This record gives sequence, structure tokens and C-alpha cells, in this order.
Amino acid sequence: MSDPWSVVEQAETQSLKALFAAEPDRVARLTVEEAGISFDFSKTHLSRPILDAFVRLAEETDLAGAREALFAGRIVNPTEGRAAEHSAERGQGAPESVAGAGAFRARMRALVDAIEAGAFGPVRHILHIGIGGSALGPDLLIDALGRDAGRYDVAIVSNVDGAALEEAVADFDPHTSLVCIASKTFTTTETMLNARSALAWLDQGGVADPYGRVVALTASPERALDFGVDETRILPFAESVGGRYSLWSSIGFPAALALGWEAFETLLEGAAAMDRHFRLAPPLENAPILAAFADRYYANVRGAGTRAVFAYDERLRLLPSYLQQLIMESNGKSVKLDGSPVGRATAPIVWGGVGTDAQHAVFQLLHQGTHLVPVEFVAAIEAGDHLDEEHHRQLLINCFAQGAALMAGKASDDPHRNYPGDRPSTTILLDRLDPGSLGALIAFYEHRTFANAALLGINPFDQFGVELGKQLAKAMDQGEDMDFDASTRALIARALGGSD
Ligand code: F6P
Repeated sequence: MSDPWSVVEQAETQSLKALFAAEPDRVARLTVEEAGISFDFSKTHLSRPILDAFVRLAEETDLAGAREALFAGRIVNPTEGRAAEHSAERGQGAPESVAGAGAFRARMRALVDAIEAGAFGPVRHILHIGIGGSALGPDLLIDALGRDAGRYDVAIVSNVDGAALEEAVADFDPHTSLVCIASKTFTTTETMLNARSALAWLDQGGVADPYGRVVALTASPERALDFGVDETRILPFAESVGGRYSLWSSIGFPAALALGWEAFETLLEGAAAMDRHFRLAPPLENAPILAAFADRYYANVRGAGTRAVFAYDERLRLLPSYLQQLIMESNGKSVKLDGSPVGRATAPIVWGGVGTDAQHAVFQLLHQGTHLVPVEFVAAIEAGDHLDEEHHRQLLINCFAQGAALMAGKASDDPHRNYPGDRPSTTILLDRLDPGSLGALIAFYEHRTFANAALLGINPFDQFGVELGKQLAKAMDQGEDMDFDASTRALIARALGGSD
């Protein structure tokens, strides 16, 4: 039997127009409805033969077995000897892990209730300190869902650049602020330095017991204790929850506070609905799997090095940066699980922005540039604003027009005015953006990332690529002689002092 990758690679590429003409049921067949979201893959080049080949590839790479291992809490991250149990946080997984996550969540809820009952006096400001997965998730949730909530002012500080912290606390009153230190490992340099500076800010602001206003969100509770956080204000989560998959755990604490506990629970339920869909739906009706087929087709057959996500909803403006970490840190790998070279492109470079702004900035390249960029549009049918409904109508009209234009193109005798068309897009349309649909949307992206990794045979759950830079920064910090190159030595000498 032929190699399914070569079947995929050799399948005839038909134009989008030809596919639509040949398949009257194409939109219905390639649109998946789940959890109040429709996922329309019809404007991709996935033809019946290509889909059949991908289904065979999924069988040969045992995507179903990998998925079963994921949900059973088995070790799917062998390089770190760990399971990946973010779905247990939403009640889907090994019973003991689901129970453990439930116990941690009860602890988290008790602290939310205590804060709301006034145990810390009046609290108006939440300063959340964390980086990467310990910041991007809560930031996305609060930015997307917290606009009308008005419960607390939340500032999320990640960058070690002091300007970020300075700006965040400029309008905060230390006496009515809580500081959340979010770090899975509780060792990350940026977070620990920002945490110490936040404590100094509380102290200088006249707070008698600065540590008394600190909450730690971590999978390393003993390190948080050593740092000085009181045991009652340490909210642990399991080591098997990866950083970029951790917003469902106590890392989501500021979101639970800002949005309310009920909203946080609804977020988890939305994600659980997507977990069940990913586990149970057959491949050709399975949104994360179909999306992964399209991802692999463009990356591995058509050589697309990038993928763009445009949120046609201001509330989802942080989605592209959230997805950058999720996809690029998970699947930006070159070797398979067994350490052998993967031999084909893995994660694309993910980028994007918000519509309609991006139309007036980067869409020129999408329509007429030389790169093939699969585009993803994300929008909600229900408006997120309270202005004249014409705003939202125009937003959706523009979103749909861009997808249509990318596909249809427009021929012209004038090469400058010619649009080649046949450019792919997917459209993800939420009935409304609420905690449930956002939970389902984020879980969809998690499972799509996992399905891509399974098809490639790579480990999406480690991130050794980020380590070397950290090690060199530490060596530089400690003045170790690392035999740095001449350029780096000159930079150090010029900016940080010392001899070249
Ligand atoms: O450096 C990468 C990384 O480990 C991410 O995977 C993680 O989300 C981030 O740093 C923050 O790590 P921590 O939560 O341990 O501070």
C-alpha cells in the first residue's frame, strides 16, 4: 500500500471554484457545528481524495490512539515523562486526575468567595504577574469577556521591562490591590523579578503586610512557600497541566475573579463540549481534525510557511498572540517523538490581527502577494458593542467579503489590477461570544494543535527550544565566561559595561 503522505502529496489539486462547482453539498459537508460555533472549511482545497488520504494518514499515524492516551492521562510527553491533562481541568480525563483538578478548583473557588466576602478588605485592583502561558490565557479571557463586567481592574504584567509594571500600577492603589504571582515553575526570571518589584511597590505604598496581599498560582507550591506566600493563598495545579494549556487551572484565577465564578465554570463546560466532540466525532465531522488536515495540506503539500488568523471582533484581538504560543511553542519542532528528523514542515508561523483594521494594512499581500497564506476568519453573529447595529453589520459584511474575494479573485488585463484568487480561508462563526463559546473555541485550537502533532509524530508538549537562550542569559548575568562571539561581547561591553 502506498504511503499516505505521498497520496496526499500527489492528489490532484483542484481550484476552489472547481471544487464548489463539482460538489453541490460542499458547504454542508465541510461545515461542522459544535457548541454554538460553526467551522466552515469549504473554502480550503480539501477535496474528497485529499480527505480520504488524510483519513488514512490519521489511521497510520494512530491519531485515535494518541487521542485516547491523551484523555486517559497516559504519558504523551515522553521527553518530560508527563501526561498532558488540561482536559481533566474541565472534567474530561482520567477519573483520579479529574478528581484532583476538582479539589484544586474548590480551593480556588473558596479564595474567590473569601475575596468577594471582604476577607482582604475592599479589593478593586488585581495585578497579575506571569509570562507566556501564565499570562496569555487570562489576558485573552478577561479582554474578551470582561468588558462589561466591571468587577475589578485587572492588569496583566509579563515583560521584564520595568515599563510594563510601572504602567500597570500607575492608577492602582496598593491598599486595594491584590497581587497574583502566576508561574507553573515559580522560577521564571521575569516573573520573580516583577513579583519582587510588586512587593516593593506595596511596601512603598504603605501596605503593612505586603505578602498578605499576594496569591500564588503554581504547580510548585513548595517554591511559593519558600518565596514567602502564605499556604492559604497558594492555589496549586497539577504538574501534568502544561503552561500554554493552563488557563483552565488556577492560572485562570484573575479571570474567575473578574468574570465571576459562574462564568469561569461555563468556560470549562464549553471546553468540555469540545473535548467530547474531539474524542467522539468521526474524522470527517470532527472540527479539530478537519482543521489539522487543512493545516497539514497547506504546510506540507503547498509549502505555506505561515497561517494568519484575523478576529473580526475587537473582543478577540488577543486571540492571534494566544495562538502564537499555543501553536508555535507546541509544534515548532524538527524531530519526531523518537528523536529522528521529522522531514517535513511542522508548525507554520502564526500571525494575524483584527478585522477590519488588518484589511487596510496587510491584506494587500494576502490578495496579490507571492506567499500562499491560509487565512482564518473568526467572528460572532451577535454584536459585542452597544452602538448602532450598522457597526456590526459592516464588520460581518467585510469579513465575509474578504473570504469571498480571496477565493474568487478577479481577472484583469492590467497585471497590477489582477487578483489571482483561489486563496484559501476558513471561517469560524460563533453564534455569540460568551464564556461557553470561548471555552469551546480555545479547546478547539488545543485539539487542532494536538491533531497536527499526531499526524507529524512530534511531541507538542515540551519546549526545549526556549531553554538555551535562558541559559545564556543566566551565564551573562553571572558574568560567566561563555566564550560569547565577538558581536555579543561588543554589545555587552557597549550597553552593560565591562571590557570587550
Ligand atoms: O519559557 C517558556 C515557558 O516555559 C512557557 O512554556 C511557559 O508558559 C512560560 O515559560 C512561563 O513559565 P512559568 O509558568 O513556569 O513561569
